[in-house]
This record gives sequence, structure tokens and C-alpha cells, in this order.
Amino acid sequence: MSKKQLAHHRPKWKTHIGFVLATVGSAIGLGNIWRFSYLCYKNGGGAFLFPYLIALFVVGIPLIILEIGLGHKMRGSAPASFASVSKKWEWLGWWQITFVMFGIVLYYSVIIAWCLNYFFFAFDLSWGATPDKFFTETFLISTGSPFQIGNIRTIILFSLAIIWFLNWFIVFKGVQNGLERASKIFMPILFLLTATIILWGLRLEGAMEGVAVYLKPDFSQITNIKVWMDAFSQIFFTLSLGFGIMIAYASYLPKKTQIVRDSLIITGINCLFSLLAGVGVFAVLGYMAHSSSLPISEVVTESIGLAFVAFPKAISLLPAFSNIFGILFFGSLVIAGLSSSISIIEAFTSGIVDKFHYSRKMVVSALCIVGFLGSIIFTTQAGINWLDIVDHFLTQYGLILGAIFECLAIGWFFKVNKLRGHINHYSGWKAPIFWNFCIKVISPLILVAILISSLTEEFSHNYGGYSPVAIILIGRDWLIYTLFAALVIAFHPWRLDPRKRMLVHEHDQKKKY
Ligand code: PFF
Repeated sequence: MSKKQLAHHRPKWKTHIGFVLATVGSAIGLGNIWRFSYLCYKNGGGAFLFPYLIALFVVGIPLIILEIGLGHKMRGSAPASFASVSKKWEWLGWWQITFVMFGIVLYYSVIIAWCLNYFFFAFDLSWGATPDKFFTETFLISTGSPFQIGNIRTIILFSLAIIWFLNWFIVFKGVQNGLERASKIFMPILFLLTATIILWGLRLEGAMEGVAVYLKPDFSQITNIKVWMDAFSQIFFTLSLGFGIMIAYASYLPKKTQIVRDSLIITGINCLFSLLAGVGVFAVLGYMAHSSSLPISEVVTESIGLAFVAFPKAISLLPAFSNIFGILFFGSLVIAGLSSSISIIEAFTSGIVDKFHYSRKMVVSALCIVGFLGSIIFTTQAGINWLDIVDHFLTQYGLILGAIFECLAIGWFFKVNKLRGHINHYSGWKAPIFWNFCIKVISPLILVAILISSLTEEFSHNYGGYSPVAIILIGRDWLIYTLFAALVIAFHPWRLDPRKRMLVHEHDQKKKY
């Protein structure tokens, strides 16, 4: 194959709205409903919104502009884009997509599988009068310890297989016929379902008391560093930043793209969705508190299980059509989850195809089989504990460390102004010079401060009360192994130099426009 043919493999979005919906689909996921609501609940309701919005403005928005700008300029996946900045940074792209693909998505797909199970349970409210017992003792049959693996829960394994099949089916069909088409179907359905849930929730008795807990911040929590750590990692998680996804998706855009405007649209839709979903969640919790004449803090005891314990409890209490409410709620979680999981499979596939030029279909198929097998550990009776530890380490450290290196690579080892020039070239709304300062100084400094606090917290007590061996072997080592894998792949030679690959594209684009 000639250099030109090698470089021409890059797919394209068919429509601009297709790109926006696919990126919004990646951003809006379980994180917006399952994760955001439990973090909000855990961190004093509305008190969480303050650090959340600060994190959004100082780090979230500058970094999404950076990622979309970088992928668009370099016309490559995360590894190819970082390799085009400098070969020394290629490992960063690989590390990001590797720990997300072989870490976050492995447990993420299991949570989508739980949602699929609960979608069916909702038909006859199978969780009965004690959803907490049902969740841990009947559904997960949790051993409570990460080293007592127990058995695989076949009911979860079965729905997990369906989820991985859907992941495969969508990504296998390609960017236009798979990802873009799926997003155009999924996102309107998701918006409709969520709007129905919110409006329904707000009409329930006691809903307003629930919303008041959500919107009236308990500022005593603001000084708690853990609240800030959660807010920053949530911003990365929710915007799929540091995942390598935005970079890959932006590489399929045409040259004339309004990068700043699109970044703000994606961020705005995503965060508005979270805030509104929070209203729905707290309205329902308010109803539950009202009907059991207890304060919200007493009706909700679970954090990670909020969606699977508190919500089913509330659903069972609804005066009418409770199963329909349950079906809508868990159905929307499945759709939100799938539109996110497909995005990392695409980001990883695009990394491998850019570097090794293997057939895309073969890569997607192999990846989904390995992904399914890797997820199985989370379907065991120790699954929820593994999930908790891996989620903590990858989101609290992996995403934040990756983002610090991202700022360093672009801010200090690449001419950040050059990237800003590129971003602003076709943009009506320009990234101001202050953006350079954010990328070079503000964002990395804040992220380093968050990282140091997380580490101090980590050393002061064992996360979640797990044994140090569990924390080291399951949490820390997950980051180390994926880093090692990233370094090995990064040292492998390219079939076509990443910079040359980009130049061929640039030449081709210039002829077109
Ligand atoms: N942005 C997603 C969410 O908030 O749920 C996070 C995500 C997880 C994206 C896993 C992609 C992914 F594969």
C-alpha cells in the first residue's frame, strides 16, 4: 500500500449533528445518572454543585477544547495525535485508551448489564419490599470481600453478553453506519425518557423537599477536600476527558469546524443533562422520604447502589404505573451506558488501526471478545468490590494523571499558541489567550493539588476499608499494568510515520476546501 492509501483510511462523520450527538452520547452516560446522583448525595446534595461547576470552568472546558482541537489538527487517534506532537508522548495516548478500554469499560459494561437485568425486573417489581436485600443478597450475592470471588452470577453474565454483542454490532458497522446512526437513534430517545422521568418525578408528593435538599447547598461540606476530589474526577468522567475519545472523534471532522462552539455545546448539553437528571433523582427521593415520613438521609443508605436500591424502593412506592416508571428509568440507563461504551471501543480501534493498519472489523471483533472476557471478573460475587476499587483508582488517579501529562505535553512541549491558532482558524467563537494560561498553568496546578490531596488521603486510611493487599493488587497495579502495556505498544515502530500521515491528510484537505 502506498503512503497515500495508508493515510486515507480515516473515516468521516456524515453530518455535523451526527458528530455532536455521538460526542454527547459519549459524554452522557451512567456517569450522569448513576455516578452523579450518588456523588451528589454522598457529598451533601447541592453542596457538590459548587465544586462541580468550578471544576467544569477551570479544567473541563479548557481541556475539552484542547482534546477536540488536538484530534482535529492531528487527524488521528489519541496515540497518533500525541505521537505527532512528539514521539516521546505517544505512550500517553496509549495509556489513556488502554486503561479506559481495559479498566473503566470492563466494569462499566457490567453496570449496564445490571441495568438491563433491572429493566426486566421492573416489569413485575421483582425486588419486592426490600430492594437492599434483593440487590446484595439475591442479585449480586455479594461476598463482601474482593478476595472471596465466589461464583459467576449467570444472570449478570447473560446480560453482559448482550451488552458486548450490542457494543460490537454498533462499532463494527463503522463511524457513519454504526456510531453516528446509533447516536441519532439513542439520544432523542434518551432525552425523551429522561424528560418523562423528571416531569413525572416532580409531580409526586414530597418531590419539592427532595429538590430542596439538592439545590440548597450544605456549605459545611465545601471545606472537605474529598468533595473537591470527587468533583474534579466527575468532570473528567462525565465529559469523557482523558479517555482519548474526544481526540479520536474530532479526527473524523471536516477541516471547517467550529471547535470552540462545538466544545461548549457538548459540555453544555452534558452538564445540563446531569443537573436535570439530579432534579429527577432527588424529586423521587423526596417522594420516598415523604411517604415513609423520614428525612432523605435516612431513607437512602447506599451510595454506589443508589440506582439499584433507593430507586427501586421509591419505584415500588409509586401510587400508579410503578413498573412503567422502572422500565423507563432502567431503559434510559442502558441507552445512556451503551452510547458511551461504544465510544471507547471506537477510540481504541482507531488507535490500533492508525498505527498497525489492521482491518478495522477484525480489531473491533477481537477487542469486544477480550472486553467481554475481561468484564467477567466483575460479574462474580466479589464483582461490586472489584468495581469499587478499580473505579476509585482509575478515575481518581488515571484520569487526573493523564490530564496533567496532557497539559504538560501540549502546554510545554508543543506550541500551545499554535494549537490555539488552529482552533480559532475556523471558529466564530475564539479561544482567548487566557486558554493558553489555563492549559499551561492553572489546570495542571489545580490537578497536581488534587492529586496530592488524594494521595495524602489514600495513605491516611485504606480506601473503602479494604485490605492494603486488595488496594495494591487490584487498584494501583491496574494502573501500572496498563501503563506498561502502553509503553510496549508505543515503542513498536509505525508503518507510516504519524507526522507524514498527517501531512498527507493536510495536503488532501487543502485540495478539497
Ligand atoms: N462520560 C461517560 C459517563 O459519564 O458515563 C463515561 C464513560 C465511561 C465514557 C465509559 C465512555 C466509556 F467508555
